[in-house]
Amino acid sequence: MPSIKEILNTMEYGPAPESQKEAQAWLEQHGRTFGLFIDNAWTDAGALFASTNPADASKLADLTQATGDDVDRAVAAARRAQPGWQALGGHGRAKVLYAIARLLQKHARLFAVLETLDNGKTIRETRDVDLPLAARHFYYHAGWAQLQAEEFADYRAVGVVGQIVPWNFPLLMLSWKIAPALAAGNTVVFKPAEFTSLTAMLFAEICVQAGVPAGVVNIVTGDGAVGEAIVNHAGIDKLAFTGSTEVGRQIRIATAGSGKKLSLELGGKSPFIVFEDADLDAAVEGLVDSIWFNQGQVCCAGSRLLVQESVEAKFLAKLRARMDKLTLGAPLEKSIDVGALVDPIQQQRITELVESARAEGCTVYQPACDIPVDGAWFPPTLITGASTSAAVAQAEIFGPVLVAMSFRTPPEAVQLANNTVYGLAACVWTENISLALDVAPQIKAGVVWINTANQFDAACGFGGYRESGFGREGGREGMYEYLTALSEDARPAAPVLAAPAKIKAPAPIAAGGAFAIDRTAKMYIGGKQTRPDGAYSRAVHGADGAFIAEVGEGSRKDIRNAVEAAHKAGGWSKATAHNRAQVLYYIAENLAARGEEFAARIAAMTGASSASAEKEVQASIERLFYYAAYADKYDGLAHQPPMHGVTVALNEPVGVIGIVCPNEAPLLGLISLVAPAIAMGNRAVVVPSEAHPLSATDLYQVFDTSDLPGGVVNIVTGSADELARTLATHSDIDAVWRHDGSAAGCAEVERLSAASLKRTWVGGAKGRDWYSTAQAGGRAVLAHASQVKNVWIPYGV
Ligand code: NAI
Repeated sequence: MPSIKEILNTMEYGPAPESQKEAQAWLEQHGRTFGLFIDNAWTDAGALFASTNPADASKLADLTQATGDDVDRAVAAARRAQPGWQALGGHGRAKVLYAIARLLQKHARLFAVLETLDNGKTIRETRDVDLPLAARHFYYHAGWAQLQAEEFADYRAVGVVGQIVPWNFPLLMLSWKIAPALAAGNTVVFKPAEFTSLTAMLFAEICVQAGVPAGVVNIVTGDGAVGEAIVNHAGIDKLAFTGSTEVGRQIRIATAGSGKKLSLELGGKSPFIVFEDADLDAAVEGLVDSIWFNQGQVCCAGSRLLVQESVEAKFLAKLRARMDKLTLGAPLEKSIDVGALVDPIQQQRITELVESARAEGCTVYQPACDIPVDGAWFPPTLITGASTSAAVAQAEIFGPVLVAMSFRTPPEAVQLANNTVYGLAACVWTENISLALDVAPQIKAGVVWINTANQFDAACGFGGYRESGFGREGGREGMYEYLTALSEDARPAAPVLAAPAKIKAPAPIAAGGAFAIDRTAKMYIGGKQTRPDGAYSRAVHGADGAFIAEVGEGSRKDIRNAVEAAHKAGGWSKATAHNRAQVLYYIAENLAARGEEFAARIAAMTGASSASAEKEVQASIERLFYYAAYADKYDGLAHQPPMHGVTVALNEPVGVIGIVCPNEAPLLGLISLVAPAIAMGNRAVVVPSEAHPLSATDLYQVFDTSDLPGGVVNIVTGSADELARTLATHSDIDAVWRHDGSAAGCAEVERLSAASLKRTWVGGAKGRDWYSTAQAGGRAVLAHASQVKNVWIPYGV
């Protein structure tokens, strides 16, 4: 008698495709032609481009390529609508967002089928993942709208937001963008990807039904040129972009100096780490969800398998067996695992990358499967034998292609995992909780999934480290991207700019003969006082013009040394928050002990009265106490996604931060920037006030006597412009802050930081009241000094 398994294996199933009747009827209703959605009305269609079904190359509809004038009109509509939308209040907005969520659920089937037709992804994914998550985003953010006045009392909406998304999760990305923006009281100009705009068109109709007021949501279609018009539009206050790192970089450059708030969710090359004690079968399933979900066209796809050598052969055998069972074909078919790629151009890109691996001698495994003749397809693929530097191991393939490598020890796994310019996500598979929780914080990525993969939820922030971008979508952390602190509006129009110090032509140190004493204040690098590499110095004059002292003229080489020292001081990031707090208190104590000396120096440099110089020293001591207090109180969160488990949002340090300090309040300004940076576990390379640098050079002894480990704070004096330029272009610096009131200098920092997508925090031309805790303190500053990592930990059975 045959076994059940044998019977099942011989059973034939007939096709069971989801019906596309309703979706096709909806397209017909629109004459298969769409204009733009501005001010709650459709414009006449303009120049058209076709949207096709990538599974069979059939044309679905024509869409309008928006012009610059169209973008102008959309931005103007959003601008007009914004005050009213904000004034509607939290409850008013919550009701509208809730209505959208309900309507998405009501029309879920239509949305899912339309998405599958337009994108080529399987109906199982659009129906079971994309739609429920899209609705969840509107529910969740209806909640934030309701609570905004209470939970974000010190914030307001940013204003008009430009949002640009890619084609891999068309409706889901729309929801990730529009829900938080609307909750916070912003209005939007949204651009879907040119390959996949149809569900956005259907969403426009939902907005009208849900009672979204005219102008609050505007949708313009078209290619990258439309995206550029949004990016460059002067009427946009914030940009949120998801897409390729290359375009993200262009947007960073285009917006430099504009004051537009920016969040970028870019590419990835995420590691999927399997330790020898993992549940290997579960890990194989996780991998299927990781790299074959949505044909691998997922920014956080687990595209690099790192498997412990002792189980490598066994795991790969299981994996190949599982790959053999994956079904590829018509995406509307309910049993299909792997659908079509979005466009033949992707098929060509992926083919080229896989062939390059084959040419390099890698082994390429692809299960035998029938590839449909029409449309864009690529079979599930496993590449082994690639070197760590191979193109397939480094580039984001954005297709169903997994590259496998092995490791021997946990440190080697971490090192391989971090061997990428990206940092979006990672998976860690092990039954050993200690190992999992040891490895998770060491991985440079915004999301870490432990014994699970590709989990998303509106309550949990999503976003990257390094070249995967900055900013978070989802969770409380995501709401801040769409809010502006009220204290920003209170900032003074311009900082008090002092005349910069003068460079003294070469000051050869030995010039004065055998008994000459070098009175040049030195740099402070790696906990040691060092001479400037170039042996140049600059004179510092007091307010009355009298010479006070000389400071070193810092160069590129000095910054390099400082960055190296900062990296060596990595132990500071692992020190306990309690330890960091103690050091900050100790710095305050030692500064207080020498308060008079510091006050005298400030008075001499700036011409401040002794009373106000003393006030600055006292405020600096208080600010040190303030950030010492915060060091162990800027807690993370335990999010509650709808799963049996917990998602822990950790506030991690950014890494090495370059800080260019303000000229006004030379001591308080420096302390107000350096203290939060080191309180959060960062190391700093600090360029003190160019005009009044001596408060910084006087601090060396304070640091030395306060148990601050060498290299945690490094100080390089000299030209703010030159040193900021070097900081912004240095590839081993993670963030640059500039607050010296130079608008051009701040713009340059933003522009140059695009090369390695550093995070920036710049003050622009405006000043800041450094005495005000609202303007120079608070969670907004701590957010600049940290980045959120969400660690997903399912539990139970
Ligand atoms: P893309 O980054 O060019 O396009 C994403 C969106 O940006 C689209 O709406 C596009 O019209 C718009 N856009 C293009 N150029 C623009 C510009 N200069 N200014 C403003 N907006 C602009 O991505 P594309 O070409 O669709 O895919 C290319 C590669 O990018 C993929 O193969 C993949 O490697 C990567 N990618 C990564 C994504 C992610 O989620 N991280 C998503 C999509 C693509």
